[in-house]
Amino acid sequence: LARGGVHADLAGRHVVVTAGGTREPLDPVRFLGNRSSGKQGYAFARTAAARGARVTLISANVALPDPAGVDVVRIGTTEDLRKAAVEAAAGADAVVMAAAPADFRPAVYSDSKIKKSDDGGAPVIELVTNPDVAAELGERKRPGQVLVAFAAETGEGDEALANARAKLARKRADLIVLNRVGVDRVFGADANAATVIGADGSLTDLPEQPKDDLADAVWDLVITHLTHTS
Ligand code: CTP
Ligand code: CA
Repeated sequence: LARGGVHADLAGRHVVVTAGGTREPLDPVRFLGNRSSGKQGYAFARTAAARGARVTLISANVALPDPAGVDVVRIGTTEDLRKAAVEAAAGADAVVMAAAPADFRPAVYSDSKIKKSDDGGAPVIELVTNPDVAAELGERKRPGQVLVAFAAETGEGDEALANARAKLARKRADLIVLNRVGVDRVFGADANAATVIGADGSLTDLPEQPKDDLADAVWDLVITHLTHTS
């Protein structure tokens, strides 16, 4: 493993990393969000910078310090993420979609705070579907660019693997990092385990390890793809 910039094996490369969870505002004080802490994405940004890459980190609602030597772009919603990621990815060698974009947003944003009604009735919130950013990046992928997506799955075993393979194909990713998630698993933790599936059919099991080490192991796989194609 390359740590601390000892092997600058990403020198001369531009990588884009997305991290955190997007938030979809409902009114001035409320949003729909998710449990992503951004730690795994920040680990990708930190380790890529240590290996000599130029790094653009697109950060959604994360309470973490900026990694040294990384360009940080702060965004809020999935639509913001889409715009920032499409722009940054246009010239990038690799894109790592570690962010957890909200899949849905409220159909209507209320300019004023939604109030409780006198009769005790609760509002019904209509949702619309957000764009799939990774799928759009997959469609726009430049020759030789490596796209890494994630699959957050609550299922066990073969079902999770099958779901992840379907996502890999749908998003035209080169690698997909399968995380088995739950309220007390992955989110906010400092360690992570994953299975990485390649579009070429390869399977790499990464046992529970610090998120920086897991990121380094995925960068090792990305570099293999970069050298195959450039
Ligand atoms: N993703 C994205 N845009 C979205 C939703 C997800 O780019 N609107 C990306 C995530 O960053 C991740 C991958 O797609 O890299 C898979 O996210 P995940 O939530 O596991 O899958 P979805 O395709 O959203 O499907 P579902 O949530 O229904 O399982
Ligand atoms: Ca999703």
